[in-house]
Amino acid sequence: MLIPQTSSSLVDTLRQRRQKLASLIDFPAILWSGSNSPRNFPANSFAFRANSHFLYFAGLPLANAAIRLEAGKLELFMEDPSPSSALWHGEMPTREEIAEQIGADVARPMAELGSWLEDAATIAVQDAATWTQQSQLLNRWVLPQSLPQEIDLELAKAIVFLRLTHDDAALTELRKAAAVTVQVHKAGMAATPQAKLEAEVRAAMEGVIIANNMTTSYNSIVTVHGEVLHNEHYHHHLQPGDLLLADVGAETETGWAADVTRTWPVSGNFSSTQREIYNVVLAAHDACIAKIYPGVEYGDIHLLAATVIAEGLVDLGILRGNPQDLVEMDVHALFFPHGIGHLLGLDVHDMEDLGDLAGYEEGRTRSDRFGLGYLRLNRPLRPGMLVTIEPGFYQVPAILNDANVRSTYQNVVNWQRLSEFADVRGIRIEDDVLVTTEGSEVLTAALPNDANIIENLVNS
Ligand code: GLY
Ligand code: MN
Ligand code: MN
Repeated sequence: MLIPQTSSSLVDTLRQRRQKLASLIDFPAILWSGSNSPRNFPANSFAFRANSHFLYFAGLPLANAAIRLEAGKLELFMEDPSPSSALWHGEMPTREEIAEQIGADVARPMAELGSWLEDAATIAVQDAATWTQQSQLLNRWVLPQSLPQEIDLELAKAIVFLRLTHDDAALTELRKAAAVTVQVHKAGMAATPQAKLEAEVRAAMEGVIIANNMTTSYNSIVTVHGEVLHNEHYHHHLQPGDLLLADVGAETETGWAADVTRTWPVSGNFSSTQREIYNVVLAAHDACIAKIYPGVEYGDIHLLAATVIAEGLVDLGILRGNPQDLVEMDVHALFFPHGIGHLLGLDVHDMEDLGDLAGYEEGRTRSDRFGLGYLRLNRPLRPGMLVTIEPGFYQVPAILNDANVRSTYQNVVNWQRLSEFADVRGIRIEDDVLVTTEGSEVLTAALPNDANIIENLVNS
C-alpha cells in the first residue's frame, strides 16, 4: 500500500466522529480533500497536504477525493488509479480498498459526485482549484475564510464543536508529533556549535522530522533575527553573541501537529542581558501553564503573560510604573505584540481557516486594543483542548522606532536602559499544553527550557 495503514481502532474512531457529527446536523456534508498543485507540469507538484476537515473524518491524506457524510454514513468519492500510473507511482490501492481502510459505507467515482450534492453543506478548501470546483458544483460561492451560507456556517460550527477537544486517537498522534519535535529541538541545539549558517541548524532539525517520516507542520523559523516574527529566511551567519530562535514543529503522516519554540545562545552561553530577559519570558511561560485549568479564560492567561512580562521589565528598569497599569496601557505589546497562543490539532492555529469561529466563543469578537487584538483564542478552556503557550520578547524596529509609539510611551519606557539590551532581538518559549480534567499536561515537557540546561544542551 502506498498510503499509511489504518488500524481497526482508527476506523472505530472515524465512525464515532461521523456519528457525533450526525447528532449535530440534519443535512449532508461534503468535504473535499484538495488537489495537487503543479509547479510546472502535472507530475511535478508542490507537496500535497489534505484539507484538515477531510482528514478529521476520512483519516487518510488522499488527494483529489471527497467524502459525503450523512446520518453517520460515509461515502467516498475518488477515481481509481489510472492504468498508466502504476508505471510511475507503483501499484496504488483501488477506490474500494481505500474505502475499506477508512470504513466507508460506499465508494463511488469522483465523476458521480455531481448527483449527490443536493442540500449539502461544505467548507472551502484553501487551494483555488478546489474551492473553484466546490463553487461550480454547488452553484454558489464557496470561498476560503468566508461562510455566507447558513448551512455551511452550521456545518462549520458543528465541526468546531468536535475538533475543539481531542479524542484518544487524535491525542495518540499529537503525542507522537510532540515527541519527535522534542528531539528536533535537541538536535538543533546540538548542531549549533558546528554550524555557520541558520540553514545548517534548520537542516539538523528538519532532518529529524524527515527521518521520522513526518513533515513540518508550518514553515520552520530558525533565525538569529527572532524580532522578525515570521522570519522564513535561513541565510544569516551565526555570530557568537547571537541568540538563535527556532520555531519548528513536526506533523504526523495523518496530519497532526506540534508547534514548539526554543531560543538559545549561539556561543552556548547567554550574556547577562540575554539571560535576564530570557528569565522574564520563562517566568511568563511558567505562570501561564500553572494557571491552565478547565473553566479558565484563555484571555486571562494572555493578560497574565502580559502582566508578568511588564513586571519583569519594571524590575529590570526598562519600564516604569505599576505592571497592571502598564498592561492596561498596552505597554507590554511594544515587546510582546502577539497573543499568548492558539489552538493546536490537525493544524498549527487549528481551524483558523474558519476565521475566529473556533478561536472565539460565540458572541465575542477581536478587541481593537493593540495589546489584545492579536489574541487568537478567547474561550474558557475545556478538558481535551490543546493550546500553545508562547510568550516572547522582541525588539521590533517597526514598533520601537515609530515616532508615535516613542511619544505615547515616552514616560513609561526607559529608552536609555533598553539600549543596554541590544543583544536581545527576539526570544520566544513555546510549548504545547493539553487541558485535562485536573489541570494540564505539557506534551512537550521533555524539552528543557531552563537557561542553564539549554546552555548545557548547546555545549554538549
Ligand atoms: N509557529 C507559529 C506559531 O507559533 O504560531
Ligand atoms: Mn504557536
Ligand atoms: Mn510556533
